[in-house]
Amino acid sequence: MTRGGSPAVRVGIVGLGYMGLATGLGFAAHGASVVGYDVKPEIRRSIELGRSPYRESGLGALLRAQRRSGRLRVVETPRDLVGAADGIFLCVPTPAGPTGRIDLRPLEGAVRDLGSALRDTRGYRIVVVKSTVVPGTTESLVAPELRRRSKRRPEGLGVASNPEFLAEGSMVHDAVSPERIVVGTRDARALAWLRRAYRPFGAPILALTPSGAELVKYSSNAFLALKVSFANEVARLADRLGSNVDEVLEAVGRDSRIGPRFLRAGPGFGGSCFEKDLRALAARSRELGVRLRSAEAALRINEEQLAYVLGLIRAAVGSLRGKRIALLGLAFKAGTDDVRETRALPIVQRLVAEGALVRGHDPGALDNFRRLWQREAGRGRGRLDLVSSVDEALEGADAAVLQADWPEYSRWSARWTRRMRHPVLLDLRRAVDRERVADSGLTVIGLGAGVFPRIRRHGGGGGR
Ligand SMILES: NC(=O)c1ccc[n+]([C@@H]2O[C@H](COP(=O)([O-])OP(=O)(O)OC[C@H]3O[C@@H](n4cnc5c(N)ncnc54)[C@H](O)[C@@H]3O)[C@@H](O)[C@H]2O)c1
Repeated sequence: MTRGGSPAVRVGIVGLGYMGLATGLGFAAHGASVVGYDVKPEIRRSIELGRSPYRESGLGALLRAQRRSGRLRVVETPRDLVGAADGIFLCVPTPAGPTGRIDLRPLEGAVRDLGSALRDTRGYRIVVVKSTVVPGTTESLVAPELRRRSKRRPEGLGVASNPEFLAEGSMVHDAVSPERIVVGTRDARALAWLRRAYRPFGAPILALTPSGAELVKYSSNAFLALKVSFANEVARLADRLGSNVDEVLEAVGRDSRIGPRFLRAGPGFGGSCFEKDLRALAARSRELGVRLRSAEAALRINEEQLAYVLGLIRAAVGSLRGKRIALLGLAFKAGTDDVRETRALPIVQRLVAEGALVRGHDPGALDNFRRLWQREAGRGRGRLDLVSSVDEALEGADAAVLQADWPEYSRWSARWTRRMRHPVLLDLRRAVDRERVADSGLTVIGLGAGVFPRIRRHGGGGGR
């Protein structure tokens, strides 16, 4: 029972990855009875033991609290899940295929398992597609396949789209207190159930068609990616003009028509969503005879940003051959251990290809990056050392590159400067206060901070 005395809504989560776990915990925190299932036994075990499989601020504490409350349980099969849930949320991966089109095989597999499990269960159920899928997928693929497998008629099985907008780094907040809920369904009963399930969240619920809801998700990500790419272009211009991109964009973002979030320059966007979603959106739009030039441009600018970062490093260090570079921050952004599409990977690859020796550090993503590097190193194997302290990373370095702005890096210690052979920091996020560390002898070159042209004029000799 909920505090109000009505029975708790029964939620099922299929796929306990970053998004599925946070979603399940969000529902549990609002009093729902949640059951979760993942194909990977190690993920099920970890969650059952109250240990978060992912490093993300607040996630472990919320998981322990909800395991203690008994509102989050893990089950061993899809059949157990459909027995204990009325609304089942599909949270499985939807990666990009080789041509940029979405790879629907994990979703198809989950739908098959769920359809078979539903055949043996009684009572109305709703299946909700929460994974990011190209517009049309819920109605043209998920609903018919579920009906075929489960042998259920529409009266016994509601289908809906309910895209998720949480961001890694602020997942717990976003899952517990979303700004809006977007629901796409043609089934009134499914909509009523979703309204009831989401009522405790207190966020506005926007009801659309399934393809409309799916398009909201892609449009949001395309717009956010465009904001990042736009900020990166302004940063390049600020460097030429000797202006500071943060001061400029803070003033721009204070216009409520624009807004400050995601208007931040850096090494380019990474993470599991933006690139794959933009590529999928661009590919699907082309199939429909529409060119989404803005999404294509956001991707192209993001690629160029990598070249810009490398140009910045070369301008400060000169030839990279035999140079020791410390790379601080390997996750795709601070606050997470997620290294999917992290910019740290292509940066290391390019640095080692030009003959540098790299030492990488990250407060949370070291193990994940090690596994990624083992897969992707190619001929760079042996030229990257992953170390567990900033001191080790900086020992004898010819330059340091700050890729993800973990708070510990911004509290730069004078001791770190002394470890370096040439105390130059390329601060891709402008996390370190230049004035504060100047006494220690550290030269900080912030991307977009307006000092790049000066380094170039000095002939790339270290900028000191
Ligand atoms: N990560 C995010 O920040 C985020 C935000 C919004 C939307 N999304 C979307 O959510 C979806 C999931 O993303 P993620 O980052 O959580 O992925 P993830 O890879 O972290 O997690 C997916 C999980 O699903 C499991 N899985 C795969 N097939 C399954 C099956 N048949 N049955 C049960 N479990 C299965 C995997 O073992 C894995 O644990 C994607 O579509 C993504 O685009 C992600």
